[in-house]
Amino acid sequence: MGITFNGESGIFHIFTNRTSYQILLYQNTYPLHLYWGHRVYDDTCSWQLEAPYRRAGILLNSQPDDAMFSREYLPFEYPCYGTSDFRTPAYDLTDSRGHGISDPRFADWKIVSGKPQLEGLPSSYCESPEEAQTLILTLKDSVSGLQIELFYSAFESSDVITRHARITNGGQETVMLNGAASMSLDMKHGTDQMIQLCGTALRETHIEKRALGTGVTAIESLRGVSSHQANPFAAFVNRDTTETQGEVFAVSLVYSGNFRIQAEKDMYGSMRIQAGINPYQFRWQLEPGSSFTTPEALLVYSSEGLGAMSCCFHRFMRRHISRGEYRDQVRPVLLNTWEAFYFSFNHDRVLELARTAKQAGIELLVLDDGWFGHRDNDRSSLGDWYPDAKKLPRGIRGLCEDINAMGLKMGLWFEPEMISPDSDLYRAHPDWCIHVPDRKRTQWRSQLVLDMGRLDVQQYIIDSLSAILGSCNLSYVKWDCNRRITEAGSAALPPERQGELMHRYVLGLYAVMKTLTERFPHVLFENCASGGARFDPGMMCYFAQNWASDNTDAISRLKIQQGASMVYPPIWITSHISASPNHQLNRSCSLQFREHVCQPFNLGYELDLLQMQPEELAQLNEQIKTYKQLRPLIQFGDFYRILSPFEGDDTAWMISAEQGKHILVWYYKPYAQPEESYLGFKIPHLDEQAAYRLVGSDRIYHGSVLAHMGLTIDWKNGDHFSQFWHFEKI
Ligand code: DGJ
Repeated sequence: MGITFNGESGIFHIFTNRTSYQILLYQNTYPLHLYWGHRVYDDTCSWQLEAPYRRAGILLNSQPDDAMFSREYLPFEYPCYGTSDFRTPAYDLTDSRGHGISDPRFADWKIVSGKPQLEGLPSSYCESPEEAQTLILTLKDSVSGLQIELFYSAFESSDVITRHARITNGGQETVMLNGAASMSLDMKHGTDQMIQLCGTALRETHIEKRALGTGVTAIESLRGVSSHQANPFAAFVNRDTTETQGEVFAVSLVYSGNFRIQAEKDMYGSMRIQAGINPYQFRWQLEPGSSFTTPEALLVYSSEGLGAMSCCFHRFMRRHISRGEYRDQVRPVLLNTWEAFYFSFNHDRVLELARTAKQAGIELLVLDDGWFGHRDNDRSSLGDWYPDAKKLPRGIRGLCEDINAMGLKMGLWFEPEMISPDSDLYRAHPDWCIHVPDRKRTQWRSQLVLDMGRLDVQQYIIDSLSAILGSCNLSYVKWDCNRRITEAGSAALPPERQGELMHRYVLGLYAVMKTLTERFPHVLFENCASGGARFDPGMMCYFAQNWASDNTDAISRLKIQQGASMVYPPIWITSHISASPNHQLNRSCSLQFREHVCQPFNLGYELDLLQMQPEELAQLNEQIKTYKQLRPLIQFGDFYRILSPFEGDDTAWMISAEQGKHILVWYYKPYAQPEESYLGFKIPHLDEQAAYRLVGSDRIYHGSVLAHMGLTIDWKNGDHFSQFWHFEKI
């Protein structure tokens, strides 16, 4: 049981093993946010919200019948605008008379077992109704008939609370919805800082901390995808929060399009946290009787710092976001041809590479871009999903048969949402792309974006991918998306619905991915958008892993992977060993350093094995053998960050697997420093009473020693130093 209602105090208590979230039904009228934090065992504390003595500038007695009632400072669960709360509202609408005022009040509540799925949107799920409980609060505006349902699901053992809202037009006139947050809550005391993951292509998921002052601090995307620039995640912390201590209030949004997560500190230092679809240029026509469902937000509270927050997200994402055959399976070690061949290959060359890959122990060969239409560079053919007979005379089917005959699986790259102006598809359907009549169709990598909200476009993508996937034994798809949306207009929508395009795009994308992943359940789909431009839980409801960045330079990857690991489990984060010097930065790194950087994640390769020396191939073979042995521990263990590349020169990570029986630790020192001090660090999250054997040696370490005296590093000199330890509890 994760939710209760105390009729006397009027308090709903939503709880998990370590977290409580309480809502006070204020005078049976407004659901107020009472508490979110460490688990408490009392649901009678309405006195927590007794108003402090505040008079200046306050609009008192606005309603209901309470002399001290003022919306100015009350903490709401889903606030409206225009009735004396002047902070950002949770939703915004314009009615048929042009007004934007509504005042929904509490009407009903119910608690149900399990977790309802969201219509048309991906969301977390439970396999049995015992895994979660859901509270649904219904609010109604008596003048307009507007109805708002707030959904709260408690995943008790996972320590995650999910939220979303459904807004229904119960009136007689059409209403324009100009914004609707997935969640909104008002904390009595705001935190000092917001942690966000930002960057750009080749520099994804960089951790930034921003001070929270009075007013709004936001992270958002207006690019049509969740974006490189802003991952849909934020953690609200105080200055003293570290990886192992301090409070964290975190939100991750299950959405892949324009979003906004913000904190708004008011004049009293209270803080409103909101997350949802970005309201900028969003307009959704709500006809009488119709509803709008917001995406889902995942809420995690930790009283033990960022490490515990990440662990909570990782376990939850692996079990309640991931789905399908691959959820509980280790992922194959793959070789991707992109950096080996780019656009220049043919059947025989791919086979030659596949043969060497097989000898090295690789399990899956992925043919990246360039296999279709007449695509010899990035200026043509997107949309024409049939093999280029010049490069592949026996088609994908012939190639797949030959690769399978070697005992290797085969995968293929697609960029399904895109269309090249130089393509048969564009010549046949110039109106299928997103565009505004009479305006330039801005090209980006010489391509345009298909209007995913259109059913004919969705059907075309489903049919063309199905034709290839159904024609042979493909085991994997890399789903790429290399441009952002500009000139957002649709030839299929009337003027009053153009503001729906961006969200309809995402809904269309989800519908296509749902159909294809259900139709081809044996295929492993990897998410990619120029690397990590759409790495979010929405995409990961369909896809089993994610290409975190096109930057495969090992030193850059330390930061990218450190950031991605804040929210996403290592099994989702694909990490490829590439050539040295590296193609993006032209930096050279030893094969061992590159191996160690990729090893704690989902290992793959992105290099031309045909150019490697026999001794390097032998080393590769050893790497893959080692990885396969460690793979279940790495891919299903608990990952923690020990040293941060954002805070010092060095990085260290660990994985605790099989209930702490195995502790894997990696240390990286990218650059030598003169006259170094003693190098070492302490290992958290292990059993301090137990003894551990260093695997591959006779050395025994006591847990208390590793936790408090720490490990020492064997570095003597030189750049790109790394070290790995595997401890087994005895
Ligand atoms: C961008 C991706 O991120 C790369 O990995 C590669 O697949 C290229 N697209 C191919 O065009």
